[in-house]
Amino acid sequence: MLNTQERAHVAQVWDLIAGHEAHFGAELLLRLFTVYPSTKIYFKHLGACPDEVLLLSHGQRVLEAVGVAVQHVDNLRAALSPLADLHAHVLRVDPANFPLLIQCFQVVLASHLQDEFTVEMQAAWDKFLTGVAIVLTEKYR
Ligand code: HEM
Repeated sequence: MLNTQERAHVAQVWDLIAGHEAHFGAELLLRLFTVYPSTKIYFKHLGACPDEVLLLSHGQRVLEAVGVAVQHVDNLRAALSPLADLHAHVLRVDPANFPLLIQCFQVVLASHLQDEFTVEMQAAWDKFLTGVAIVLTEKYR
């Protein structure tokens, strides 16, 4: 799992995002749908050109869940258990989509935080989000 320095990097970046979950989340979804259009099959109810209100509301829910994960880095499995059930058993999202979302997330962070988002922070966030994705996809088996 994350070492002390990686945890500090994750927390430091989260402090910059906290309070702007809807905005970052909407941008994440828009980027995901634009760069990887195949991901939109899971969001047909958002329409071909999802309007900002829908993007903001779902984006906020996704980012708030990431915030919960930040607060529970040592206990992701328990903290994210209901969300893992949802994605595996109800939504049945193909796990191959998670690395796509992780990549888009990092691009959103880099484009906003610019030089503040160091290579070490990016490495820590990549590891952290991969840990979140592992938990969210492990109930498929
Ligand atoms: C719903 C988080 C990855 C598709 C949700 C919800 C949250 C969430 C918090 C709302 C749950 C609720 O209403 O109770 C996350 C996180 C992810 C992730 C933290 C990865 C780090 C993905 C991926 C896809 C996906 C990769 C597909 C490309 C969906 C869909 C819904 C959903 C279709 C339902 C949307 C709706 O009800 O309007 N997710 N998700 N998720 N997620 Fe994810």
